[in-house]
Amino acid sequence: MNIDIARLQKEIDDLALISEATPPVVTRVLYSDADMKGRAFVKNLFREAGLTIREDSIGNTCARWEGRDKSAAPIGTGSHIDAIPNAGKYDGVVGVLGALEAVRALKATGFQPQRSIDIIIFTAEEPTRFGIGCLGSRLLAGTLAAEKVANLKDREGGTLDSLRKHAGFPTSNPLDVRLPKNAYSSFIELHIEQGPILEQRGLDIGIVEKIAAPSSLRMKLTGVGGHAGAMLMPERHDAGLAAAEISLAVEKAAKTTGSPDTVGTTGVFRIEPGAVNSVPCFAYLEIDLRDTNVTTRDAALVQIEAAAKEICQRRGVTLEIERVNVDAPATCDPRLVSLIEGVCKKQNVTCMRMISRAYHDSLFMAQVAPTTMIFIPCLKGYSHRPDEYSSPEQIRRGVDVLASTLEDLASVG
Ligand code: GLV
Ligand code: MN
Ligand code: MN
Repeated sequence: MNIDIARLQKEIDDLALISEATPPVVTRVLYSDADMKGRAFVKNLFREAGLTIREDSIGNTCARWEGRDKSAAPIGTGSHIDAIPNAGKYDGVVGVLGALEAVRALKATGFQPQRSIDIIIFTAEEPTRFGIGCLGSRLLAGTLAAEKVANLKDREGGTLDSLRKHAGFPTSNPLDVRLPKNAYSSFIELHIEQGPILEQRGLDIGIVEKIAAPSSLRMKLTGVGGHAGAMLMPERHDAGLAAAEISLAVEKAAKTTGSPDTVGTTGVFRIEPGAVNSVPCFAYLEIDLRDTNVTTRDAALVQIEAAAKEICQRRGVTLEIERVNVDAPATCDPRLVSLIEGVCKKQNVTCMRMISRAYHDSLFMAQVAPTTMIFIPCLKGYSHRPDEYSSPEQIRRGVDVLASTLEDLASVG
């Protein structure tokens, strides 16, 4: 297969310039100008490759290479192009533009797929805007309750409904994007590893067997504000200090489960009014907690909630807790894992089976289709930071493995 890595690398580099931040920093938050321009850039490439584009009411975008058998369930691939604040250029993007390059390479060989191949750009894999990750794939899998969808709000109070309409997506109900049963015969996502294992072991490809279970919490703390000079210490109900203590309780809970796989992060921490001479009257936290073992994760979650209640009670601060998402882990399809192992062997690339500690749209696609992921190494495991990097050769190998896997799957009627 002739993968044009120079073309693909240029497209990755060009997309990275469409950012809310100054390059090389990539920030593309859902429905922002950069997100919309990024989508337009990729859709244009899809069109140039002769693919047919369809968008749903929240902006999940599907580019189809029509197969000979229109009645057969297609093969899905793809990932996301939204990027958290201060991100790099490979997370998600390699799975979208890499899939496009795989399709172009297959087309160039004269291959005609029996089953259609869909490249999907999932809406908002990143949780930045609404606090919940994998919004698009959750809705495709039908796992988000109507009430949660209606209550999604961003920092400025904007709702999913108003923002998606403003972004120009069709007005039908977001719950209608749910995929019908057996919509995809399989789903394969190419992604950078976002961890150091492949690089440390000098391996080319990871094949994902399991995706760790993510969860997240929101906490709103209301204390008593006042003058930083005049309000004496015994009188204080400082929401900021309660939030600080809760952040430490998150760290403690994650470190004391007895499992090295538990990870807890307080990634959003805001206090109000945010003036040096004012006691914080309000604090807002977003907490991310994960484990490969769901029982361990759940126990840590309960511990964090109990600690937060105790801290706020002791400090005379009112606490509201919302469980934004508490997801199960995903088990990947063993037949697809073996198939990709076979492809790696044929291509003479080294591989290992592994667990994904990061979450991906595959976590939800696995609920509706046999799914797995192809990981490529990235420098020192860096991700969610601007110096995220995979070499052109590492990307080329991943795309080559994806292309052969798609060829195999799409040949069967
Ligand atoms: C995905 O971006 C994650 O946070 O795992
Ligand atoms: Mn990410
Ligand atoms: Mn990603």
